[in-house]
Amino acid sequence: MSDLLARHKEVLAPVIGFNTDLHIVSAEGLWVSDPDGNRWADFACGTAVTNLGHNHPDVVAAARGQLDQLVHSGMIFHFESIVDAAEKLRSITPKTIEKFAFANSGAEAVEASVKLAKHTTSRQGVIAFRGGFHGRTMGSVSYTTSNSKYRDGYHPVLGSVFVAPFPHPYRWGMDAEAATELCLNELRLMFKHVVSPKNIAAFLVEPVQGEGGYYPAPPAFLRALREMADEHGIMLIFDEVQTGFGRTAEWFAADHFDVDPDIIAMGKGIANGLPLSAYGASRKIIDAWPPGSHGTTYGGNPIATAAASAVVDAMEPLIPHGRDLAKHAIDRFEGLQVEHQTIGDVRGLGLMIGVELVEDRATREPAAAAFKHIQQHARENELIIIECGPDGNVIRFIPPLITTREELDWAIDLVDEGLSSWES
Ligand SMILES: Cc1ncc(COP(=O)(O)O)c(C=O)c1O
Repeated sequence: MSDLLARHKEVLAPVIGFNTDLHIVSAEGLWVSDPDGNRWADFACGTAVTNLGHNHPDVVAAARGQLDQLVHSGMIFHFESIVDAAEKLRSITPKTIEKFAFANSGAEAVEASVKLAKHTTSRQGVIAFRGGFHGRTMGSVSYTTSNSKYRDGYHPVLGSVFVAPFPHPYRWGMDAEAATELCLNELRLMFKHVVSPKNIAAFLVEPVQGEGGYYPAPPAFLRALREMADEHGIMLIFDEVQTGFGRTAEWFAADHFDVDPDIIAMGKGIANGLPLSAYGASRKIIDAWPPGSHGTTYGGNPIATAAASAVVDAMEPLIPHGRDLAKHAIDRFEGLQVEHQTIGDVRGLGLMIGVELVEDRATREPAAAAFKHIQQHARENELIIIECGPDGNVIRFIPPLITTREELDWAIDLVDEGLSSWES
């Protein structure tokens, strides 16, 4: 064990898991480096955050410039970078979203979004979707059902949270249409038997389930949620914490669907690694939320918001490249699926790609050991990849948008080699 790892174990709580035992001292673009100069390409993106690659020069310069001017306001004084960042958000978010507030983490943005929906509707109930991940604070973990382990030891979670099924067509052995119909029917039955819609403040949904296994929502599912929300006066909240800021090769996953949310929660890629999150809604909704009904000391920190504005400028020209990369990656993984029986499913939206590994295509038995094998092979060859899904068997393929076609091919070749050695 390295000296740093031993010191880490001595003073840091084991509850916060680290995905690797690597000790890094610097990072640039795709690459992270250890003290001996060994390096790895980070296709985990610091858990879906560094969509622009590590230490993007424009983001670093913006943060550094702000650091020299003003570090903290604590919402006592007005300052420019928070207004700039909100203006930038307004230029890229769905048209229904007009005003914003900032927070520090995805979980906080989700909780604030739900508070806003409750305040707006004067209702208490929330419908979340099975397989969703919304964070780990006591409120957000109450909406999180990607894996029951996240709630172990914390029951009772918040009351009046109702969990409805989300379409997982591959796992259920059906097509997207049938899975969508099944889920919508369950929702109608929930309204009939469990809770009437007049108690529901919000549908809280990830347009692509992330931690839950990289399941894009079928467009018809989101459209139906929009219709039900309109019919019953329910707020539709999109949790775009993971799907935002170019990850799906559009600004937001919502851009792929003809569906606009009432409220949006954002985080992760928003400042490419500086701690920041945000949420937004229409003027009508957000202006009716009285001052003081919610608050934050650090949310919208000057340095993090300066970085966020730089992210928007730096990401804009990369989005078309992201689309090309995404198409190429999906083509290649679908090609690998023909060659490798271990690949049960290839799915995703933009550069948020899930490759589900199975023991046997007929039974769809999850192959977590295959993932570990491929991950190890990748790591031995300077590539870091991580998984998602409750069974640990889905390759979470999330290169940053600065990745070149050659680097993408190199990474997919390593997955191909890992699969071949696993299957031999
Ligand atoms: C969709 C989604 N929502 C919320 C969160 C929570 O974000 P944070 O860990 O910043 O609280 C995550 C984190 O993975 C996420 O993927």
